[in-house]
Amino acid sequence: MYTNLYSKITDALVEDGYIIIENALDPLLVQKLQECSIKGEGYKNAGISSKSDFHLDKQRRRDKTQWLHEDEKVQGQYLSFAQGLQDYLNHSLYLGLNDYEAHFALYEEGDFYEKHLDSFKNSKNRIVTTVFYLNDEWKKEDGGELIIYDENGILLSKVVPKSNTLVVFLSEKFPHEVLPAKRKRYSIAGWFRVDKKII
Ligand code: OGA
Ligand code: MN
Repeated sequence: MYTNLYSKITDALVEDGYIIIENALDPLLVQKLQECSIKGEGYKNAGISSKSDFHLDKQRRRDKTQWLHEDEKVQGQYLSFAQGLQDYLNHSLYLGLNDYEAHFALYEEGDFYEKHLDSFKNSKNRIVTTVFYLNDEWKKEDGGELIIYDENGILLSKVVPKSNTLVVFLSEKFPHEVLPAKRKRYSIAGWFRVDKKII
């Protein structure tokens, strides 16, 4: 169903390492995901690492998150879109991705996420990052843009988090940050991973 989209993302990852796509998914799915994200009652303060010092982390990151589950109908639809992308990337680029994890993220007024890379220290298992936005009528003065840098710290792109915009990039190559949001900002951040199997 999303074959054209998958192929566009794959080409971009090879050419540039990242892509920003507006009007990416079925609007009906977007609407249902928005409802899901807004009524979500399980948001928890996000951590930076498994050994996180909560107070330190609060200075770097202020969003609240909630993992998606495939047994929930709407979340399952988003996860199967991602599964399709995983299969496509594996077939065309032999990336060997074998897992996808995704969470809803809520940034409330004033929340931000300092410049970072999406891989935890000492672990290189997050290979491709996806971010999908769920905010209607996002205006310039609402802030909360995603800023993407290249490996030398040069600004590549400033992404407005408006609904149905999908960002995909190579997790280890692009430092990025979220500027302070001036109103509630909803999104789904996800990561394709390569996990070493313990035999
Ligand atoms: C993240 C992240 C970007 C965004 O959750 O790691 O960088 O725009 N999110 O929400
Ligand atoms: Mn990130």
